[in-house]
Amino acid sequence: MSSTGVQVIAVTSGKGGVGKTNTSINIAASLAKQGHKVMLMDADLGLANVDVNLGLQCSFNMAHVMSGEKTLSEIVLTGPFDMQVVPAASGIYEMAGLQNEQLQHLIQAFSEYNGKLDYLIIDTAAGISDNVLAFLNAAHQMIVIACDEPSSITDAYALIKVMSQRYGATRFHFLASMVKNEKEGRALYTKIERVVDHYLGATMLYLGSTPHDDQLRIANKQQKAVVQAAPMANSSRAYMQMAAIVERWEAPTGLSGQVEFFVDRLLQRKA
Ligand SMILES: Nc1ncnc2c1ncn2[C@@H]1O[C@H](COP(=O)(O)OP(=O)(O)OP(=O)(O)O)[C@@H](O)[C@H]1O
Ligand SMILES: [Mg+2]
Repeated sequence: MSSTGVQVIAVTSGKGGVGKTNTSINIAASLAKQGHKVMLMDADLGLANVDVNLGLQCSFNMAHVMSGEKTLSEIVLTGPFDMQVVPAASGIYEMAGLQNEQLQHLIQAFSEYNGKLDYLIIDTAAGISDNVLAFLNAAHQMIVIACDEPSSITDAYALIKVMSQRYGATRFHFLASMVKNEKEGRALYTKIERVVDHYLGATMLYLGSTPHDDQLRIANKQQKAVVQAAPMANSSRAYMQMAAIVERWEAPTGLSGQVEFFVDRLLQRKA
């Protein structure tokens, strides 16, 4: 599995509170359950919450790696099904504003992971700040989430538009969140896909939908991934189905699959 490179997948939405963190955690956990080596990175630098959602205690985070105080292995936490969780760099607000020394530490930190990961899943912050865009630009695949509300749809479109026009992104994956049923999910996808295709000439592929699910909320209260706490819940089944689609995505090979390449792209040293 690790003979090919690491596939970097960023989860994003434009609008806040639509299910990015739950999606990141549960797709990561589903992939880990299937035996893949998965790292989940909390890229929400302002309001980090992956660790809280998983009930993990973290004393150190990416900021300590960037300052050279800790290595990446020293700060990663173990989540469900042995997936690795990287707590957000609290106090670091601009990836673009990092000092040279911090960059070196970041690159070194990731190079120890070359060949050891199948998936790096990135849970981004809400909005379209430069930081969010930098993480999206660094990823091989983007999962854009929207629910069936006008503000969620327009914010998702705004994000897709800026990625397409500013960064030349041509392909997105779409997840319809908190829908009544699969039909509603597909209808939402079709509505957005048509606009993305027509105005931006970009491709948007359907990843799937998650239903509104009280069991997910209960799992959140228990600080657990729903796929682990309630594997038969409707949302768990949806996440596992989506992970099965993700498994069929072609893994990157060569340079683009190396973790240093991800860091390089993150810091926009390669377009
Ligand atoms: N499928 C679902 N069914 C019911 N509730 C859900 C579902 N998905 C997410 N939620 C609820 O919506 C809220 C936001 O979820 P989550 O934290 O995953 O979103 P987010 O996009 O990461 O938010 P933020 O933008 O604040 O980071 C949480 O209270 C969560 O329990
Ligand atoms: Mg979140």
